[in-house]
Amino acid sequence: MINNSDKIINGKLSADNFLIKVLKKVEDFENLYERPPCLAVIIVGNDPASKIYVKKKIKTAKKINIKSIEIQLPKDITEADLLKQIDKLNYSENVDGILVQLPLPKHIFTENVINTITPLKDVDGFHPINFGNLCLGNDSIVPCTPLGCLYLLKNEVKNLSGFNVTIVGRSNIVGKPMQALLIKENCTVTLAHSKTKSLREITKKADILISAIGKPEYITSEYIKPNSIIIDVGINRIVEKEKNKLVGDVKFEEVYQLVKKITPVPGGVGPMTIACLMYNTVKASFIRKQKEFRESLF
Ligand code: GUN
Repeated sequence: MINNSDKIINGKLSADNFLIKVLKKVEDFENLYERPPCLAVIIVGNDPASKIYVKKKIKTAKKINIKSIEIQLPKDITEADLLKQIDKLNYSENVDGILVQLPLPKHIFTENVINTITPLKDVDGFHPINFGNLCLGNDSIVPCTPLGCLYLLKNEVKNLSGFNVTIVGRSNIVGKPMQALLIKENCTVTLAHSKTKSLREITKKADILISAIGKPEYITSEYIKPNSIIIDVGINRIVEKEKNKLVGDVKFEEVYQLVKKITPVPGGVGPMTIACLMYNTVKASFIRKQKEFRESLF
């Protein structure tokens, strides 16, 4: 593994710096309203990866004085009972943000869950009202992973206007909101996906390539424009030499030689996603109280 190179985008360091600014906002909120912002996290079932992610979210919240409530529900809970739990949180005066960890068990319709969270407390930014506002270019709560990617990109390139960006992956969590965010930044955006023909020909033209396909080390040097910036959103668990290992969508060791900048996995986008969840929680807290939040952090 290549370390300490100026080619590597250090997501952990960026997230730590960003969280210092979010902490200031947490303190402002607490001074005004005599309580910390509060995030409720619901986890359904025992998926090990989801449990790890939720633990990281709660730990980070604690670090910057955001109160968190973890609600563990059994994997066979009915959809109706889950929606009732969400509605209780919707009406709770002291809960500012609600997150339901995905994926959910197959018998629960994710869309119903997302639509039940009030848009004011939707810290994931997945509700159609928040996503609609993002697509319209209005202020909204923006999904955490794309927001984290944008933060990392803006650290590298002050003005993204006119850049050719290719996103690989059209998920509602990453690809689609990432496209909307980058259009707002005046980028020319191509959204490629599993049915895209001649993917390599497209990605090779990208000044910035964002991969969110969930295929371990799929993006090799043949997909890359030399001197481009690579944001690897993939977090894939593989077994190598009988050991569990986390790798991205990008074949890091090979692609690294060619590019201007690249995010590693782990330590790239992941920490920024969690930092942006904290940002969204504080933003939601202020919006509920005063319907205003000054976006001085971006
Ligand atoms: N599962 C994977 N990523 C996410 C995310 O950003 N939010 C939620 N709620 N679940 C996820």
